[in-house]
Amino acid sequence: MGQKNSVTVTDNRNGKSYEFPILDGTIGPSVVDISSFYKNLGMFTFDNGLTSTASCQSAITYIDGEKGKLMYRGYDISYLATQKIFADTAHLLLYKKLPTDEEREAFRLELKRRSFIHEGMIKLFDAFPDNAHPMAILSAAVSTLSTFYFDHLDVDSPSEYMEMAKRIIAKIPTIAAFSYRYSRGLPIIYPNLDRGFVENILYMLRAFPYDHVNLKPIEVKALDTILTLHADHEQNASTTTVRTVASTHAHPYAAVSAGIGALWGRAHGGANESVIRQLEVIGDVKNVEKYIAKAKDKNDPFRLMGFGHRVYKNFDPRAAILKNIRDQLMKESDIKIDENLVEVANKIEETALKDEYFIKRNLYPNIDFYSGLILRALGIPKDMFAVIFVIGRAPGWIAQWIELKEHNERITRPRQLYVGPEERTPKY
Ligand code: SDX
Repeated sequence: MGQKNSVTVTDNRNGKSYEFPILDGTIGPSVVDISSFYKNLGMFTFDNGLTSTASCQSAITYIDGEKGKLMYRGYDISYLATQKIFADTAHLLLYKKLPTDEEREAFRLELKRRSFIHEGMIKLFDAFPDNAHPMAILSAAVSTLSTFYFDHLDVDSPSEYMEMAKRIIAKIPTIAAFSYRYSRGLPIIYPNLDRGFVENILYMLRAFPYDHVNLKPIEVKALDTILTLHADHEQNASTTTVRTVASTHAHPYAAVSAGIGALWGRAHGGANESVIRQLEVIGDVKNVEKYIAKAKDKNDPFRLMGFGHRVYKNFDPRAAILKNIRDQLMKESDIKIDENLVEVANKIEETALKDEYFIKRNLYPNIDFYSGLILRALGIPKDMFAVIFVIGRAPGWIAQWIELKEHNERITRPRQLYVGPEERTPKY
């Protein structure tokens, strides 16, 4: 009958069968290669939301949703988040290895040198209304980088796409900080080359001219950890968007700009902002039961933001690390974590984790359930939360763009189940 390493599919309408090879990865679930499915069986497969579909082969990130495990290129996320810094993780994602001390310093210098943006780009901020959401500005500005930095746009040259990669990673924090300062009518603060990559983010958001700023090491470490935890996450919606754009041979600026748009949705990277808004609406622990009931009510569109995940059917390992960071910050006397919101969040978590509805559906707190409270304690406004997510995710998106390029993958072009009208063109 069938080969050992294959799956046989039989169309019971006509008895036609076909064997499809099973491909094994390093670890994790194998895949059935169905690329010849339509050719041999005349049908498409259907997988709404791509829940059971592997869209590519990748060596970047591995997630075990059952065990709540996350690795970047074989390194466990808790190792990277506690023993390394974000620059190490960015280097690991881009160059496939953790840097030596010399490589780390060289990489950090490369990013520093590229952290300024062309002065002509500053006019872009004037084009937006004051209340423009920073994600809209960021998506436009990243695409605009390709017009000001048009000297290295050859997507087939590794040295040129690594140049684009470093420019994107280095300039996104500056664009993000400028969009925040502009929206508040504050003087823009340029990157300070005496400060580190992550420290500069808080510096550009908070400082006033002539270096009046107060940054605490624990705040920089908290933000560094948040960026590390967000750096990549397998084939999520925004990464799939980046890879789809990459498959058309568009450059990384276009792909990352599209990824920003995809990440912005509240079901994805916009969830961290929605979590805080939701905690503010719930407002008090005595209202938690009412909102848990709304979340369980099929007729109510209300969902518990920061809960549930397509892959994690256990605790999101990133959430566990952030919960610890949050509690550490709470012990810091001069860092203001909104204790009432923490109380409400803890009550939601305690109640949901004991509730049959959430247990049966494996709904646990995800990364977004905690990140917002920490970002808020760092004085970062809600509309900048998804922007911080972008700063973290940029190295992962670009690593995925490069991987697709290196594998010379075909253009992404799925098919569909057509349910529209039959031919009804009038005679003419
Ligand atoms: C991120 O994919 C990634 O890796 C993303 C990310 C990354 O790093 O890139 O991890 C970042 O996006 C994290 C997720 C942030 N989003 C939220 O916190 C929004 C709230 N969560 C839900 O919208 C939802 O859980 C999703 C979008 C995260 C997952 O959606 P799925 O996998 O499509 O799950 P589903 O909608 O099919 O839900 C399964 C069941 C349903 O009930 P039944 O139809 O089976 O009765 O669980 C219910 C859902 O109604 N459910 C929820 C719920 N999440 C799922 N019910 C109440 N509240 C929720 N939050």
